[in-house]
Amino acid sequence: MSALPDGRRFAPAAARNRGPILDVLGPLLPESGLVLEVASGTGEHVVHFARARPGLVWQPSDPSPEARESVAAWLAAEGLENVRAPLDLDAAAETWPALRFDAAVCINMLHISPWAATEGLMRGTGACLAPGGLLYIYGPFRRADAPTAPSNEAFDADLKARDSRWGLRMLEDVRAEAEANGLGFEGVADMPANNLSLIFRKR
Ligand SMILES: C[S@@+](CC[C@H](N)C(=O)[O-])C[C@H]1O[C@@H](n2cnc3c(N)ncnc32)[C@H](O)[C@@H]1O
Repeated sequence: MSALPDGRRFAPAAARNRGPILDVLGPLLPESGLVLEVASGTGEHVVHFARARPGLVWQPSDPSPEARESVAAWLAAEGLENVRAPLDLDAAAETWPALRFDAAVCINMLHISPWAATEGLMRGTGACLAPGGLLYIYGPFRRADAPTAPSNEAFDADLKARDSRWGLRMLEDVRAEAEANGLGFEGVADMPANNLSLIFRKR
């Protein structure tokens, strides 16, 4: 990851996947309302999405101060009026801030955090999403009905070597956790580089 003197960080993967993600996410989003991004990272996704969808208000978040610094630097550089200042939100937190939002987006977090973060994501969005609200999740997953790509097997081994609590999640486990929190599974879309888009809606 590289950074500019003003604090903006760049993740090469974000530049590659933001277009394909928006192609899937865009038609699922409401015309107006508040969208929470969990685990915003550099902030490149939220900037891209907010530019494309100015009718929505975007709320980035990340528990990492470095990430929030980068998001804030991106917002300062881009001057976007429809993005709020980044929130310090740990998805695993027992209680989320008292927010009501119309959609939530979480890109590349589930495999690179303990399972408690996925449980918290489902608990938090289950509690804070408006009825019918979208939860969009992107990343690499295992699934019971398809073999895992060799590149994802290697990635999983690498993640577990870095932190034994990390690793690719089973789509079926993520789905069960969502359903337990009132989030109905709407479908899955294959994405470039053996990633998936997972689509849930608050009942
Ligand atoms: C691989 S980065 C992905 C960042 C960005 N979404 C992207 O795709 O470029 C993983 C991000 O998850 C965040 N993260 C890790 N644990 C988290 C948690 N418990 N709650 C929320 N975010 C978390 C990290 O701080 C980091 O910014």
